[in-house]
Amino acid sequence: MTKELTINSERLWNSLQELARIGAYEDRATGLTGVNRQSLTDEDAEGRRLLIDWLRDAGLAVTVDQMGNIFGRREGSEPDLDPVYTGSHIDTVSTAGAFDGCLGVLGALEVVRSLNDRGSTTRRPIVVAAWTEEEGVRFGTDMLGSAVAAGRLSLDYAHALADAAGKTLGDELERTGFKGEHPVLLDPPHAYVECHIEQGPVLLREDTQLGVVTGGQAISWQRITLGGRAAHAGTTPTELRIDAGLAAARIVVKVREMVDSGDYGRLRATVGHIATSPGLPSVVPDRAELTVDLRNPDDGCMVAAERDLAAFLETLPESQPGLAVETRRMARTNQVPFSGEIQNLIATSAEELGYSTSHLMSGAGHDAQEIAAITPTAMIFVRGQYDGVSHNPREYSTPEDCAAGVRVLAATVEKLAS
Ligand code: GLV
Ligand code: MN
Ligand code: MN
Repeated sequence: MTKELTINSERLWNSLQELARIGAYEDRATGLTGVNRQSLTDEDAEGRRLLIDWLRDAGLAVTVDQMGNIFGRREGSEPDLDPVYTGSHIDTVSTAGAFDGCLGVLGALEVVRSLNDRGSTTRRPIVVAAWTEEEGVRFGTDMLGSAVAAGRLSLDYAHALADAAGKTLGDELERTGFKGEHPVLLDPPHAYVECHIEQGPVLLREDTQLGVVTGGQAISWQRITLGGRAAHAGTTPTELRIDAGLAAARIVVKVREMVDSGDYGRLRATVGHIATSPGLPSVVPDRAELTVDLRNPDDGCMVAAERDLAAFLETLPESQPGLAVETRRMARTNQVPFSGEIQNLIATSAEELGYSTSHLMSGAGHDAQEIAAITPTAMIFVRGQYDGVSHNPREYSTPEDCAAGVRVLAATVEKLAS
């Protein structure tokens, strides 16, 4: 076996910081500089162009598929063998830090740069992947690019998704110049490995540097629209009101009660978006729209939670006759176990390099969960600081921890590609 790759942690860190300058904004809540680079915005397009420049500078052959997924291929000594894929996403939520997704893409780039430095060729090709709209915050479905590439969702479905302003993903791909020619359905790679920050407190609490990810939990997103009746705030008797805002508030409280009941295992529930119209102090809301994000490591508990929430929604008009309740599914995935073999490779690589590891299931959604449907897949988690806070500008992993994750990524990818 060749000597372990020397990762250039300063180069990795500088690349993370440089990419984070695209879409940077001053976050009022934290007083920190955050990143807002949502999928297929001008900022995302600028980030994509920078990434492609870096991939080409590293000697990779770049292709873009019909979903705007970006691939950089480093040829192997046996180019006909199925490649090893590694990557993540560079789109962000509107209150992001520098690491979510970007560590996986720029970490994969650093693996390639380090292979170039050492002048070695792997047997199998290595492909660096950056998936489109992983966050799902602009077009409403998460892990979208990878889900279409893996064949779970159709290209037509994805292209027709619209953002809050009514712009479709297909049109935004065209506008930004990222509607590629390459067919989106991915030929199953030999394996897929993704390095990502943990985005939670487990590794910090267990005082371990890296995580070997056992799988991803089930995710359920829906948009609920409530139709009430606009009415005068001062004159309309309570019994004559159909208050969409009140119904929305009941849903917020209900999902929290479901979590606290303990009846649904380790359910997590979030109402992240809530809006009422007309949004005036003197008018009873005639309309409310909210999103419910449920997560659960157990598929059965997830189904029970969805069923009981749906039953609750049906009861809402009982206290406000005339209330209309509509739901629309945005995203839904089951729990996904990762490859035991690749988990072992990750754990062994970490041990050889002297890093402590914990095994844990991912709380967040990742592209790896989609690619796992077509090839053996696993993930490496990098410890986060400040309780592992993420989707927040305070998100932070140290340069040493980022380099540790990428060293293990490099060792794992090399083993898989040899
Ligand atoms: C995707 O990043 C998610 O877990 O929300
Ligand atoms: Mn992510
Ligand atoms: Mn995220």
